[in-house]
Amino acid sequence: PLVTTGELITRAAAARSAVAAFNVITLEHVEAVIAGAESMGSAVVLQVSENAVRFRYGRLLPLARAAVAAAEHAAVPVALHLDHIQSDDLLRQAPDAGFSSVMYDGARLPYADNLAATKAAVDWAHAQGLWIEAELGRLGGKNGEPPLDAHAPGARTDPAEAHAFVADSGVDALAVAVGSSHAMTTRTATLDHDLLKRLAGALDVPLVLHGSSGVPDGELTAAVAGGIAKVNVGTALNIAMTGAIRDFLAAHPEAVDSRKYLSVGREAMVRAVADIIRVLA
Ligand code: G3H
Ligand code: ZN
Repeated sequence: PLVTTGELITRAAAARSAVAAFNVITLEHVEAVIAGAESMGSAVVLQVSENAVRFRYGRLLPLARAAVAAAEHAAVPVALHLDHIQSDDLLRQAPDAGFSSVMYDGARLPYADNLAATKAAVDWAHAQGLWIEAELGRLGGKNGEPPLDAHAPGARTDPAEAHAFVADSGVDALAVAVGSSHAMTTRTATLDHDLLKRLAGALDVPLVLHGSSGVPDGELTAAVAGGIAKVNVGTALNIAMTGAIRDFLAAHPEAVDSRKYLSVGREAMVRAVADIIRVLA
């Protein structure tokens, strides 16, 4: 069934566990995430990013409608989240498109501008009954930009600044920069667990880990124990899908039916989803 992100995160945070949130780009991603979650008997978040909407010719509704229908028929609770939103126009489409939550991404902005833009997004989202996440500190790696130097100013989330940011903006959850980076194709990130502990101590909202594809299993387990309640995974699904399709087409150069390779790619994503959920369980 379709449920809200807020209820899944609240329950996970209370149990000191985490909900996996997977970025979906195609219908095959949607189907694979739900099948993987069903195989584990776990609730899951399907998230659509602003970049994914751009890929879909700028249109949110076709993929969103499909995701809602898939969620409604799922055997496990499934929530829909709009991810890394910078466009007000897209933000305002969230409720009608079936999303119960959004992530407003002002992390590129200087602190005061991030706070002001996030607060405006929070006020609007809460009036609509939406749960809203924001980001402070920078992970890098989005849109092809290199991962930030972990020691660069602003690359890590400062606990005192985060405390003020959450209090002044009213966000429901905070994405923190603790050593992960977006779009990593190797699982070689090392997290700053001491910083995560200080952030968890300073904040009374659930924490979100982005760029989790590059984080090894043991680091993920420790991050959940340290206060991460939502684990965002995107690139791992693309690695699984693309690798499986590449191998299939290399072995079957005569193949033309798209179902042949899409099904192979989808099954690889189902396994990747189950692998992540197993680590978080
Ligand atoms: O918001 C999305 C996540 O941060 C995904 O990051 O593609 O590096 O796993 P990833
Ligand atoms: Zn992210």
